[in-house]
Formats: sequence, structure tokens, C-alpha cells
Amino acid sequence: MKIAVLGAAGGIGQPLSLLLKNQLPKGSELSLYDVAPSTPGVAVDLSHIPTDVSVIGYTGDEGLVKAVSGASVVVIPAGMARKPGMDRSDLFKFNANIVKGLVEVVAKHAPKACIAIITNPVNTMVPLAAEVLKKAGCYDSKRLFGVTMLDTLRAETFWGDATKTDRCTAKVPVIGGHSGTTILPLFSQAAGYEAISAEEIEKLTVHVQNAGTEVVEAKGSGSATLSMAAAGARFALAIVRGLNGEENVVEPAYVESKTGYAPFFAQPLVLGTEGVKEYLPIGKLSAYEQKALEGMLDTLKKDIQQGVDFVNNN
Ligand code: NAI
Repeated sequence: MKIAVLGAAGGIGQPLSLLLKNQLPKGSELSLYDVAPSTPGVAVDLSHIPTDVSVIGYTGDEGLVKAVSGASVVVIPAGMARKPGMDRSDLFKFNANIVKGLVEVVAKHAPKACIAIITNPVNTMVPLAAEVLKKAGCYDSKRLFGVTMLDTLRAETFWGDATKTDRCTAKVPVIGGHSGTTILPLFSQAAGYEAISAEEIEKLTVHVQNAGTEVVEAKGSGSATLSMAAAGARFALAIVRGLNGEENVVEPAYVESKTGYAPFFAQPLVLGTEGVKEYLPIGKLSAYEQKALEGMLDTLKKDIQQGVDFVNNN
């Protein structure tokens, strides 16, 4: 199976490619693309790691076509990251054309690929990509994902710490979108919820929602790259496992929604041989979570419409 990473020379792209080189199934082909001329070198560097995963790096327009042709999975972390003081929505004007251009090429040369978008603002980039794919006549809502996995990693880590349990076994669904209040961890569905006060739940929720900003402020330039690479690898590997026919592969992502809350929505999914196999219900929410869900919907719908309008007006 061929897996392409577009934006592979960046802060996320490099560690993500490293994790994929080490963790993809034997015989996989890892294809790296970035506008940065160093990309073939990143591939040479990775190729010295003794795993049975081939790796080739490309740059330039022809390189992009080669990178995506025949890919089963395309992961996109290409584009600008936040700097202190920026909101994810501030990235739209920089990243919209990047994602549009890349998805147009994927539509032409890998129309059946599962596409996982990491580039922010995810809430807007996924509907934007859907419009591009619709225009190209190859949109399949089961094969287009916004990667919200990092919110889940953060919720699980913070929950493990709050409940003094193993972070590796904590399970917290995170629904909605991937910015500010659209990120909604459902701690009421996590083991040990009864022992945690309402005040603490509220603090943990805000912590998950602001965790990205915490990293941006701590770094002073750039946003989460290493934890995002871990999240991106976990999600890309889950897609690969599903495509390979493994049963019960469950991970969350931001997809065209079957929930009725907004046209796109992050929720738990079963991944299978065609991409999404099943849209799992979001389950029972606490009163606090229900209010937060209702409160996010206007923002989420506006974010979605911005992506749709961008493609239709350009
Ligand atoms: P970065 O600036 O370190 O890397 C971005 C890479 O994209 C660079 O190597 C650049 O050359 C490349 N690039 C730019 N235009 C391109 C094009 N047209 N084709 C191919 N490559 C292109 O940024 P970083 O930190 O890797 O972040 C990437 C994106 O991921 C940002 O938009 C950031 O906001 C987002 N992000 C998403 C998260 C999520 O949870 N979904 C979490 C953290 C970051």
C-alpha cells in the first residue's frame, strides 16, 4: 500500500514520516512531498532506517503527481502553523489555496485515496476539500477525514492525570470540531467520571480546548508538531489497518456528518476497507456537555460555510 505525506519536510511532516517509516506494515511504500527542496533528502535520511517500508521524496509540480499517483492514503500537514496571538481561523487565508491545490492533484491522480487533513483550520479545510473533490467528480464522504486525533490524545492524557490512572488506557471521546469551543471532550463517558467534580470537569474541558494555544505560547514560534505527529501517525495507521481488513478499528475524525448537528462533525468511527465503515453514535451527554454542544454549532457551521464558499467563489 502506498501512503503519501504532503508537507513532509515540515515540523509535523518529518516526525510523522519517521513514525510511519517505523510503524507501517511491511512492504508499504512511503511517499513524501513538500515544496521544500530538502524533501528528497528527508527521504534519503529515513531510508537508512532498517524497516521494510520503502521511502521516496519528491518536490516540484511533477514530483507532486508522482508522490500521490496510486496512493491509498494521503495525509496532508502542508501549510502555515500558528504563531503566538493567532487563532486557527487566521490561517485560512494562507492555507486555503495550499489545500485546494493539493487536493485537486489528489483528485486527478489518486481519486480513490483516503485523505486525512491535518492543516488548519481543520473545521474549514475539510469542507473545502470536499467541494474540490465534488467538482472533480470523485467525492466520497467515507474517504475524507479531518484529523482531530490530537484532541483525543490530549483529553486522554489529562484524564489519566486527573483520575490518577494509566494514561495509556484512558478513553475519552472528543466530538465537534478542531478549534476552541468546537472541541468537546466527553468526560462523562470516561471511566472514573463520578469521582471528578463538576468544577474539575470544566477546567479539564477548557484545558483540552486551549492545549494547542498552550504549546504555541510555550514554543514562541510554531505549534504542536511532535504530539501532532504521534496523533497523525495513530490515525493514518488506523486508516491503513481498516483498509487492510482489520476488524474493530475505532478512531475519531472530523467527517461529513450523519449526526444532524452540522454538515461536518468529529465523532468516533469504525474504519474499514472503504474508509468509514460505521459512524458511531456520540452517546449520552451530561447537561454541561449538551449545553457546550449547542453553543458550538453556530461557529462550526460558519467555519464549514467558509470552506464551501471559498471553492465556489474561486
Ligand atoms: P511547518 O511550517 O513546520 O510545515 C509546513 C510544511 O508545509 C513546510 O515544510 C512547507 O514547506 C510545506 N508546504 C507549504 N506549502 C506547501 C504545498 N503547497 N505543498 C506541499 N507542502 C507545502 O508547519 P507544521 O507545524 O508542520 O504545521 C502544519 C499544519 O498543521 C499547520 O496548518 C498547523 O496549523 C496544522 N496543525 C494541525 C493540528 C491538528 O490537530 N489537526 C495540530 C497542529 C498543527
